[in-house]
Amino acid sequence: MSDKFDVIIIGSGPGGYVCAIRCAQLGLKTACIESRKTLGGTCLNIGCIPSKSLLNSSEMYHKSQKDFNSLGIEVGEIKLNLSKMMATKNKAVLTLTKGIEFLFKKNKIVHLKGDGSILDNNTVIVTNPSGKKEKYKTKKIVIATGSSPSSLPNVNIDEKNIVSSTGALSFEEVPKELFIIGGGYIGLELGSVWKRLGSNVTVIEYLDHIIPGMDREISKEFLKILQKQGINFKLNSKVTSVSSIKNRTILDFTNNETQKGERVECDKVLVAVGRKPNVTSDIGEAGIKLDNQNKIKVNDNFETSVKNIYAIGDVIDKGAMLAHKAEDEGIAVAEIIAGQSGHVNYSVIPGVIYTHPEVAQIGKTEEELKKEKIKYKVGKFPFMANSRAKVNNETEGFVKILADEKTDKVLGVSMISAVAGTMIAELAIAMEFGASAEDIARTCHAHPTHSEAIKEAALAVDKRPIHF
Ligand code: NAI
Repeated sequence: MSDKFDVIIIGSGPGGYVCAIRCAQLGLKTACIESRKTLGGTCLNIGCIPSKSLLNSSEMYHKSQKDFNSLGIEVGEIKLNLSKMMATKNKAVLTLTKGIEFLFKKNKIVHLKGDGSILDNNTVIVTNPSGKKEKYKTKKIVIATGSSPSSLPNVNIDEKNIVSSTGALSFEEVPKELFIIGGGYIGLELGSVWKRLGSNVTVIEYLDHIIPGMDREISKEFLKILQKQGINFKLNSKVTSVSSIKNRTILDFTNNETQKGERVECDKVLVAVGRKPNVTSDIGEAGIKLDNQNKIKVNDNFETSVKNIYAIGDVIDKGAMLAHKAEDEGIAVAEIIAGQSGHVNYSVIPGVIYTHPEVAQIGKTEEELKKEKIKYKVGKFPFMANSRAKVNNETEGFVKILADEKTDKVLGVSMISAVAGTMIAELAIAMEFGASAEDIARTCHAHPTHSEAIKEAALAVDKRPIHF
């Protein structure tokens, strides 16, 4: 039995490692258990970071082929070296995971290597890679075990021909024909990567629209943009079976309206139908209550139903499965454990799809406001009328601000823009401070920038945009 810790965190993803650093900053004796060889969880190892590396490289490849010539940049034959592109991605992952190792050392966080499980509300067991078990005592436990890809009934993900996001981040060759099940974050980001690198990509989506949960007007516009890029869509379609024979994959799907069935043959199928929480048997055995989606139930202080055991991130029944949400929860729970008043404002959490252009959203959608019977005003501004977007040839998309009809308070913002993921931070600050559209409209925005479209959309809430 080792020394007693103040906090042991199970999982070192964005929720877990950020929580560990904040606990250490607050003077708590902290350990973090991780079963992967490297720290950083799904996000750093097989999620956000490698996908953004491939999104960036594939976009450069695409631009060099399609746009350079018209900009007066004449280059010779452009060739794809996929293994080099993958090596660049792997290097980015390694550098960032090593960065967390460094931060752990700097903050004197004990990194326990192996599988963590809960014995009781003061004891965890770590089973190291060679099978040796060690017990550790702790005052508090934070579960930050994250999530894994979901699949469909009877669909066996082999990570070769039928892959999850993990397999789709490491194809050794560009698939000729790639079918993607699910038109959400993962399907559209990875679909964009492989389309740019030369695959014929088809997305099969169960609903009659893509990116469910986002503003419907944005979803419609985004669909048009992706179709223009050459991605095929089969909406309102249910996949009934996927099977692999040698190196070919057979996929059957049915149109929900007409009930007409289709069978296609392709190289690879990416299953991107959501993620499920990583809830291991010890969590249930410890008496921790789960909701009907198998997520850990927590109260406002991230306490589970068992004293001393907390949970954060993808594994809990609060908020979307997003890395930055988990990070904020990691900080909040550390502060709560240290006796401070940590808090996460779930109504101001941005969501970003890192395609080109990017899609970003924060706060309420128009559909949600209608459902909640909240009266609102809309201000929209297209990037066609934004000078910076025009000179950069990035005129697709628009900013849409929804403000309370009476008070003018900003209730939600959605946008499609080349740099929407960066721009949405301004709205997060505005909304955290309870800004009105008028506040944004009266704030000076640098010229020429894409951000001027935010000011213009805020002006448009009061029907007085300048450039449109
Ligand atoms: P998602 O929930 O974003 O999208 C899944 C899609 O699959 C939905 O549109 C759903 O209607 C569809 N679907 C479900 N069952 C289906 C079926 N049988 N046939 C056809 N379509 C079906 O899930 P996704 O893309 O797998 O991402 C998982 C999680 O990872 C998300 O919660 C997301 O928050 C997170 N993520 C976030 C990213 C970011 O912040 N940029 C990037 C990647 C993932």
